[in-house]
Amino acid sequence: MYRSDTCGQLRLSDAGRHVTLAGWVQRIRKMGGMTFVDLRDRYGITQIVFDNDTDASLCERANKLGREYVIQVEGKVAERTSKNSHLDTGDIEIIADNLKILNRSDVPPFTIEDDTDGGDDLRMRYRYLDLRRGAVRRNLELRHKMAFEIRRYLDSKGFLEVETPVLIKSTPEGARDFVVPSRMNPGEFYALPQSPQTFKQLLMVSGFDRYFQIVKCFRDEDLRADRQPEFTQIDCEMSFVEQEDVLNMFEGLVKHIFKYVKDIDFTEPFPRMTWADAQRLYGSDKPDTRFGMEFVELKDLTEGSGFSVMDNAEYVGAIVAPGCADYTRKQLDQLTDFVKRPQIGASGMMWVKFENDGSIKSSVGKFFSEDVIKSWGERAGAKPGDLMLILAGATARTRKQLCELRLEMGSRLGLRDPQKFSCLWVIDFPLFEWDEETGRYYAMHHPFTSPNPEDIDKLETDTGAVRATAYDMVVNGNELGGGSIRIHEAELQNTMFRLLGLSDEEAQYKFGFLMNAFKFGAPPHGGLAFGFDRFVSILAGLDSIRDVIAFPKNNAGRDMMIDAPSEIDQSQLDELFISLTPKPEK
Ligand code: AMO
Repeated sequence: MYRSDTCGQLRLSDAGRHVTLAGWVQRIRKMGGMTFVDLRDRYGITQIVFDNDTDASLCERANKLGREYVIQVEGKVAERTSKNSHLDTGDIEIIADNLKILNRSDVPPFTIEDDTDGGDDLRMRYRYLDLRRGAVRRNLELRHKMAFEIRRYLDSKGFLEVETPVLIKSTPEGARDFVVPSRMNPGEFYALPQSPQTFKQLLMVSGFDRYFQIVKCFRDEDLRADRQPEFTQIDCEMSFVEQEDVLNMFEGLVKHIFKYVKDIDFTEPFPRMTWADAQRLYGSDKPDTRFGMEFVELKDLTEGSGFSVMDNAEYVGAIVAPGCADYTRKQLDQLTDFVKRPQIGASGMMWVKFENDGSIKSSVGKFFSEDVIKSWGERAGAKPGDLMLILAGATARTRKQLCELRLEMGSRLGLRDPQKFSCLWVIDFPLFEWDEETGRYYAMHHPFTSPNPEDIDKLETDTGAVRATAYDMVVNGNELGGGSIRIHEAELQNTMFRLLGLSDEEAQYKFGFLMNAFKFGAPPHGGLAFGFDRFVSILAGLDSIRDVIAFPKNNAGRDMMIDAPSEIDQSQLDELFISLTPKPEK
């Protein structure tokens, strides 16, 4: 028997027991004739005491232990004289009478503590050590707990978890595919699923009625804090449903998980906002509604002043930062620099200070009368002491810039508390997105998304204005999930492919299997998928999904620990009939 108890288990009520513990040496301290060892395992930390007066040779051996040694200790549970209220086991310690070294350890490259000295790269390289830290382990414990409860909840609603294949044909989720060469079919490739989209629709054709899967998806896209090349979805699909049924079902799931994990009750239905309103008020399809500061449009109130920045702009929009009229020149310059950063790309920023004494100061004061500027303030509901920030330019681009500025001001004003949660549905997405570069429409969601029935007659005549029966769940400015009601009639699906510029042959080649299946009685169906990593990281109050993934990739898509991707042997390439062209210069 390696242990009688874990390092997180013993309490005052165990005092007097003789126990055996096993774990890792977190820390060693020598004080007077005593040596204290903090022994750690997954469950906690227990203090072990070696007393030189009682057993000098045992104490001598304890003094030679190193950090992260794996040891087994026997001893008696005793009440501590100085208790540690930060530890669950802080009322007791073990007076050791035996010590066995189970394994030695090299000196770890960073301290294995919640507050580590290890940088990101180092921790990624030694991820197995990073995972020993309580802070990281707790994220994975939360992940497990959520996955378990999600399965339980969906099972209780009659959903079946069905596994779908990983070696498939391309799925149209808008990113690049990761591809896998087939040795048995030289020159041919599988694609890894960007999502199980087509399979879950086929399962509806098969009559499964309610499907879900907690499933790995793969997308070769540029990575960010909330994006990994392989990530996990809670993927769901239902038959004989309309949008309302899907929204209700999964709002129920999200509320249940918030209650289960955070004990938060959302008693009201989640607000719903149309995509068009989200753009108009927040410049985003995933607005952070933890705070207000909605956009105010000023174009009509700025007309004809002779100030070309506003006169020539298609759109003039403002936000009001409450209580910020005392911003200094330097702070305003910082904000201007912020919007001018290449990632944001504004050419400048205008401001108005509505001073507490009722006076007005503005960067555009020489172009507008005080009355005109006051009218902007009135429209925006600005109060004395508020600061108005204004951007002008092409509508879509300027809204995006104003969105960044709003989020920045929200952060500066402490309005984006990670422990406060604001959920909403964004609905009525456009069905198509026009791409200037290629001069064609793309499906905003994916090509199986059903048009809003009210807009079907506009499909051919006013394609860009057609709304989709598509919806996203947004939490604190993150897209937590998204889905749609699907097209289930072959004819409408063919029209959709045609509008997306796919010839009949292309459509048949790419999605023939689905089109054929639809000839055999496809039920009306729809569903959605949540980003599971995002769900966990939002509930854990974290900025990056990396922290909730056991072995994540870095921003260049590399696994630093196993050093992947890597080159493969010539013999493997030969077997696959693959020859490489020279690598591009770095
Ligand atoms: P979508 O592409 O919107 O929809 O993806 C669903 C959810 O998956 C998460 N997500 C990601 N998480 C981490 N890293 C990524 N690279 C990444 N990409 C997406 C997001 C997103 O909301 N088949 C459809 C769903 C459907 O229509 O039913 C789909 O995949 O949280």
